Formats: sequence, structure tokens, C-alpha cells
Amino acid sequence: MTPDVGAIAPTDHDPLRLGVVVGSTRPGRRADAVLDWVRPRAASRPALDVAVVDLADHDLPQLDEPAPARHGAPIHAHTRRLAAAVAPLDALLFLVPEYNHSLPGVLKTALDLLSDEWADRAAGLVTYGADAGGARAGEHLRAILGELAVATVQQQVGLSFVEHAPGGVLAPTARHEAQLGVLLDQLERWGGALRVLRRPAGVLA
Ligand SMILES: Cc1cc2nc3c(=O)[nH]c(=O)nc-3n(C[C@H](O)[C@H](O)[C@H](O)COP(=O)(O)O)c2cc1C
Repeated sequence: MTPDVGAIAPTDHDPLRLGVVVGSTRPGRRADAVLDWVRPRAASRPALDVAVVDLADHDLPQLDEPAPARHGAPIHAHTRRLAAAVAPLDALLFLVPEYNHSLPGVLKTALDLLSDEWADRAAGLVTYGADAGGARAGEHLRAILGELAVATVQQQVGLSFVEHAPGGVLAPTARHEAQLGVLLDQLERWGGALRVLRRPAGVLA
């Protein structure tokens, strides 16, 4: 039976659980400034219930599970803890710095450690870097998320610290603000639609 999407779209009473995944664990990271910009804008939306998945809190080693996430249960506590943080989420917003034209290794490890917990969710990307807005990291991440069955929305926000953090203080432009608004709109739409896939029709819990 086709689920009644209208009946189970997010409402004030049934917010989407949006996880903001902080993709840098670097001491002195700019990720905190990016998070401080993004989080209140997402949290101000009645349709979103925002949680932060800060990879700095997870102390992840290099991948150390004997079985690929798709084929076996994790044996390590750190993997189970990450899984417990991600599994309840309906949608994902990745904060992604560009390291050598790609995403940070710790974010790739977090993605590699899990499978079902990421799958069938909508995701948006706020990327950042020295001077290209983290665009290349974003392209790499989109390819990886495709393999994990994560649906990335079209809008992306790219912050270049040379231009948008004069004196080290993050200063997003009006264009970035508008882009983040569109990104969050798209996440609400696709996040709501994909939630239907992961739940029996009509079940909201
Ligand atoms: C290992 C490393 C590699 C980097 N490579 C790039 C790069 O290829 N392109 C770019 O625009 N910025 C690059 N940067 C600059 C970072 O994107 C910038 O420092 C950003 O603030 C890092 O995010 P974080 O402070 O949250 O860790 C690199 C930084 C590091 C530490």
C-alpha cells in the first residue's frame, strides 16, 4: 500500500530529527564557528528537532571492525555509541571542512563504520575551506553518501575562510544566509519524504 505522505509529513508535533554532523576534530577547528552559525538557524524551525553529532565526542580510531557495516554487527563500543547517535535521526546536515581537496579522514571513518544508520536519509552539506568553499570536499562526500543510500539535497553552502572570515571571525554573507534557508527547506521536504520509507505507513513514533 502506498503510504499517505500528507498524513505523516512533519508537523509542529512531529518534528524531523535533524542531526548536525560536525566533521572536524581538529584542535582550534573553525567547525565550532560554522556550527554556531548553522545550529540556531536550523533550531528556529518548528519542523526540525536539532541534535549535534560531534565526531570530537566519539573518539573514533581508524576503522577496526572485522566485518563491513553492511554485513555484520559491530563489536566495538565506540561503533555502537556512534550508531546510537545516528540511528534516531531523520535527516543529516554535514559540516565539512576541506582537507587536501577532500573530506577529513575522521568523517570518512564515521561513515564507513555504519551502514543502515545512515541509509535512506536526506542530507545537506555546509562545506568550508581556505578559498574554494570546500567545494571539492563536498563533491567527494556526495559520491560516498550515494553509496550509503543517503540522498543529498541540491543546495549546498560553501564558506571560504579567506573571504568570509576576515580576522578569523566567521562572517557569512546574505547569499549564504539565503542558501542555508533553501538547504533547510530542501532537507525538511526530503527528510519528511524519506522518513516515510523507514516507517510502516501511518506510524509516527
Ligand atoms: C590537513 C589540511 C588540509 C587542508 N587542505 C585544504 C584544501 O585542500 N583546500 C582548502 O580550501 N583548504 C584546505 N585546508 C584549510 C581548511 O579547510 C581550513 O583550515 C578549515 O578551517 C579546516 O576546518 P576546521 O578548522 O574545522 O578543522 C586544509 C587544512 C588542513 C588542516
